[in-house]
Amino acid sequence: MIPKAIKENVFYVGAMDWDYRGPGFLYQSPEGTSYNSFFIKGKEKNALIDSVSSSKKELLFEQLKGVEKIDYIVVQHVEQDRSGALWALLQSYPQAKVLCTEKSKQMLLDLITTDASRFEPIEDSQTVALGGKSMQFFETPWVHWPETMCTYIPQDQILFTCDLFGSHIASTELYAYDRLRVYQEAKLYYAQVMMPFRHIIKKHIEFFDRLKIKIIAPGHGPVHNDPQFILYAYKNWIDDFPSNMVTVPYVSMHGNTKKMTEYLVKAISDYNIHVQQFDMAVTDIWKIAVSLVDASAVIMGVPTIHLAPHPAIATLSFLINSLRPKLLFASVFGSYGWNTRAVDSIVSFLPDLNFELLSPVMCKGVPNDYTFKQLDDLAQQLAEKHVEANLL
Ligand SMILES: Cc1cc2nc3c(=O)[nH]c(=O)nc-3n(C[C@H](O)[C@H](O)[C@H](O)COP(=O)(O)O)c2cc1C
Repeated sequence: MIPKAIKENVFYVGAMDWDYRGPGFLYQSPEGTSYNSFFIKGKEKNALIDSVSSSKKELLFEQLKGVEKIDYIVVQHVEQDRSGALWALLQSYPQAKVLCTEKSKQMLLDLITTDASRFEPIEDSQTVALGGKSMQFFETPWVHWPETMCTYIPQDQILFTCDLFGSHIASTELYAYDRLRVYQEAKLYYAQVMMPFRHIIKKHIEFFDRLKIKIIAPGHGPVHNDPQFILYAYKNWIDDFPSNMVTVPYVSMHGNTKKMTEYLVKAISDYNIHVQQFDMAVTDIWKIAVSLVDASAVIMGVPTIHLAPHPAIATLSFLINSLRPKLLFASVFGSYGWNTRAVDSIVSFLPDLNFELLSPVMCKGVPNDYTFKQLDDLAQQLAEKHVEANLL
């Protein structure tokens, strides 16, 4: 493979992983991925920004053929899909120093066996000259690990952002021309990985807005040659204002909770509130995560098993708590046989979210007129809340 130039003397030397599908469960990557690595050729010094997964290191080395000297290997994020080739690089380029945050240094020493003297931890905003070009480093912790940083080349106005603004896409297109595809996959990636850190990301983006940026080069997926496209999308996802949309995941063994779901969804949509309904028996859980990026509320339909909520919804609640979406409201409904603790359990699985609980609706066996009246009331309560919150 021939390295692709994104600017004069700035080359893409990353690797496609067409068959990657993610570690599973929430973390599925239907479009493969890429491990983006960039080679910067200065007049005096050369640098490599990030590397690739060890499974693809041959592709990286193939593109570095003829590069006799790498002075700096910049590690923006230590996760092994980004730093997996580091050990091999340090052996092939014995003079190279690793530029990274102090935290990264500590974490990398847990992952690879190497001499600590190979590391030169950077300070926030520090600039390292390459001759004709320079790299300025900004500590940007928690996108999505504690050690992360970004790198800026002011001469070319390129911001390298490690996992931030990335997407799991394998493509021969260097740039994000296929906007719909990139938007969808970047949103999935945000939902899976970045959403818990949206308040921190907001501060990072406020800082980036002060830089002149022509290109955003993330660690996965296509490079953004129109930075406003991804910045605008992120600003939308991270802001506190949800959409006029509600996520209704449910599961049902004998059809009772399903009847309640269908009635409730219709009642809510009659108030012109958009609903995304998901049967957990057939839905990939990552689709719920994407829905929660925008949702104002999650209303979960759950039958009782062994006094507890059905495990599909119990697991989902636990996950929602960890993803910290911008939900304003939540509620629970479902059918049980004789005695249930489902509502209390679900609420106890959401301790880190700051939502208002709307009136739960639990019914014994098959839903009846009284159940449907309670569901009507729940829909009305939600509509009133949407009006109060200026969503409707
Ligand atoms: C394995 C199993 C365990 C159950 N345990 C309870 C229970 O502890 N308490 C209860 O009230 N109902 C229990 N039920 C009954 C269901 O909650 C009840 O049938 C309900 O109507 C199912 O709703 P669905 O049709 O939406 O699945 C249990 C059902 C099954 C299949």
